[in-house]
Amino acid sequence: MKLNWSDVTPHRMYLDRRKFIGVSAAALALPALASRAQALTGRPSPLSTDQPPNTFEEITNYNNFYEFGTGKEDPARYADQLTVDPWSVEIGGLVDRPGSYGVEDLAPDNALEERIYRLRCVEAWSMVIPWIGVPLASVLQKVGVQPSAKYVEFETLLRPEEMPGQQRAILDWPYREGLRLDEAMHPLTILATGLYDQPMPKQNGAPIRLVVPWKYGFKSIKSIVRINLVADQPLNTWKQLQSSEYGFYANVNPQVDHPRWSQATHRVIGAGLFGGREETQMFNGYGDQVASLYAGMDLAVNY
Ligand code: MTE
Repeated sequence: MKLNWSDVTPHRMYLDRRKFIGVSAAALALPALASRAQALTGRPSPLSTDQPPNTFEEITNYNNFYEFGTGKEDPARYADQLTVDPWSVEIGGLVDRPGSYGVEDLAPDNALEERIYRLRCVEAWSMVIPWIGVPLASVLQKVGVQPSAKYVEFETLLRPEEMPGQQRAILDWPYREGLRLDEAMHPLTILATGLYDQPMPKQNGAPIRLVVPWKYGFKSIKSIVRINLVADQPLNTWKQLQSSEYGFYANVNPQVDHPRWSQATHRVIGAGLFGGREETQMFNGYGDQVASLYAGMDLAVNY
């Protein structure tokens, strides 16, 4: 049997190692190292998978974040340039309390939960990531959603000086995504501000990003600066680019292939070159919780 990296560095051992680094740095009075080990804690959640998470190294070195380039290692290489403090999120549209909210207003320390979720990219690879964040529903309740709102629209920061990928017209910037209101209110849907015990690494969408675990990863928009409650289905970046290949719903579905590749199986990141293909599960394995959202819908039409 072959060991994964994640088998070699299981989650608890990783956390103990971080703690050890924190303590020893403090003991040696090395403030720089001690502050880098600044910890973020999320309450464990029954909504987490018990599958072992990928390593921090895997999660932060194999990314899609086209604002920093199209290569999987570009985000780790270039995201350092992004200024994430100060940061605010404009929340507007059909809400009672529109305004500019700080990350700590939306995801206060005492509300943070750990959500260990599978992430399935539309490109047919997957990881398990221990996010830290809050239910998006808690944020929407805070701002007060008006009855006429039916969808939620999200936008990433537009800042080509710090995001070299935005200097080229690969996508129609800024990156945009959307959810139906009931999808946005679902308990599995979170705004994440960290992973493992760290504030969100820049390549993963600092300081705040969406995570919707039953949908292809492109729905989980990074580095959010705007959230709008709207009446009509918003346009999302990948659908806008190629609507025959990427839809609005983007629910993980092994029975509906991408026009250029199968979605029946995926490569497990960290399982080694030959080790890891797995069968893709309907709704990425979250069907028990979310299938009812799509009752009566033809998911081959609404892909
Ligand atoms: N958000 C923005 N703003 N830009 C992007 O290019 N890529 C998406 C999604 N969110 C992307 C984005 C895709 S295709 C995936 S699979 C996930 O982010 C990857 O998240 P990760 O790098 O944290 O694993």
